[in-house]
Amino acid sequence: MIAVNNKILVMDFGGQYSQLLARCIRDCNVFCEIKSFKTSAEQIKKNAYCGIILSGGTNSILSDKAPICDKEIFNLGIPVLGIAYGASVIAHSFNGKIDSFSETNTSASIELDSSSVLFKNLPNNVNVFINHKDYISVAPDGFKITAFNKDYPIAAMENPDKNLYALQFHPEVAQTENGTDYLKNFLYNVCKCKGDWLMSTFTTRSIEEIKNRVGNKKVICALSGGVDSSVSAVLVHKAIGKNLTCIFVNHGFLRKDEPETVEKVFRDQFDMNLICVDARKRFLDKLKGVTDPETKRKIIGEEFIRVFEEQAKLLGDAEFLCQGTIYPDVVESGPDDSKVIKSHHNVGGLPENIGFEGLIEPLRYLFKDEVRKVGLELSIPENLVFRQPFPGPGLAVRVVGELTEEKLDTLREADFIFRDEIEKAGLSKTISQYFAVYTNIKSVGVIGDERTYNTTIALRAVITNDFTTADFARIPYEVLERASSRITSEVAGVNRVLYDITSKPPATIEFE
Ligand code: XMP
Repeated sequence: MIAVNNKILVMDFGGQYSQLLARCIRDCNVFCEIKSFKTSAEQIKKNAYCGIILSGGTNSILSDKAPICDKEIFNLGIPVLGIAYGASVIAHSFNGKIDSFSETNTSASIELDSSSVLFKNLPNNVNVFINHKDYISVAPDGFKITAFNKDYPIAAMENPDKNLYALQFHPEVAQTENGTDYLKNFLYNVCKCKGDWLMSTFTTRSIEEIKNRVGNKKVICALSGGVDSSVSAVLVHKAIGKNLTCIFVNHGFLRKDEPETVEKVFRDQFDMNLICVDARKRFLDKLKGVTDPETKRKIIGEEFIRVFEEQAKLLGDAEFLCQGTIYPDVVESGPDDSKVIKSHHNVGGLPENIGFEGLIEPLRYLFKDEVRKVGLELSIPENLVFRQPFPGPGLAVRVVGELTEEKLDTLREADFIFRDEIEKAGLSKTISQYFAVYTNIKSVGVIGDERTYNTTIALRAVITNDFTTADFARIPYEVLERASSRITSEVAGVNRVLYDITSKPPATIEFE
């Protein structure tokens, strides 16, 4: 783990904004970790946190199943800030009173007491985002009310002697005016954080740590061309140079020009040891006749591991495996433990027991936007750093039904054109994911006097924050028109183009 002197603990009560909260804290240059609300005071003591934040949560503190933390955390002498549900936890723990509205409010205009350290020198009449039915109706003894309105008698309260602070609203959500300032005041003026979490320092420290850990031993890395594996590989390369070997498996489901780009960047620009394995035929053979999406994923995942293992054996002497695991993949938090299981089987995800001395996961504590900042620090080209998410099984889950080389080639060309038109229209940074799909539908068309019976391509573009829900992108008709006419004229065998206007739910982002 990267050495950080002062860090914040976010105790997660299952709120939908816990990761956003952690990212806001990191944006204030303070390192923080998210752990379950079940984390004991004993464990916290061992970790030298300079502050604890109790997150929001969807439960009611008035219910029998209300998640509650170890109350000993309030006696550790570490400042605690409770947010939303977390505020109720503080009130409840110190015998305050909590009541419930019949409906959830989402915003409120409140009066702040600017003598509170959290609100110092800030406007005292603000709009805030509140997202819970419960509210504190009577403050516990010893607590001073520091924000209120006619509905919320206690929108914020504090007991500075005990270092306890509570906000009934969410400072981490953009709708709360000056929310980041309240957080900063807690971090810097209450917890006395140093603000030493900077990506430039992370990069230098991380390279140093890898150097010390690996010494003269050899590391092997599965490079997919995605931002996580690329940044991990470059960090390790900066630390140990030619003692790192990257393996790039071309399973045949990559987008147009991707294998070439990977070779150009990592072999030519970074001068890395790179082994490119052309496994296209092998994967297609395994997938012959397979139409079920999950079976496709399973076969691709397993075959990927086989290919990687064979290459690792050929190389023979690698002691460490480098992986691009990032923080959202490892957060273990929330009242519902099942939430921690990653929903997608990722092709880059290798099992831990494939015979290495250890794992190197340099990005294990970073959020995606931090990974991108590190990527830019390391001079990785912007088109890789800001590459849109691409599923591990790649185009295999964008060809509906059985895969063939011909279908993949058709899709690759159509997808290239659509992405090109989106980029030319200047939309690539506003759309979260955009791609073409081979629908496996044939339909009747006409060229001149000739009737055709050809392929239908669907275009999909979505806007989303976290990929668990998504809205279809309102792309201007002119852009769709250009994409459609180019696809039907430039890609052989396509006579119809559809645009998917379904959001998630009920659809998913991918077709399979
Ligand atoms: P869905 O289709 O479930 O996709 O709405 C949500 C996000 O996950 C990506 N995705 C995958 N990523 N392996 C991956 O690594 C997969 O099998 C996989 N399936 C979907 C999808 O591209 C979107 O970003």
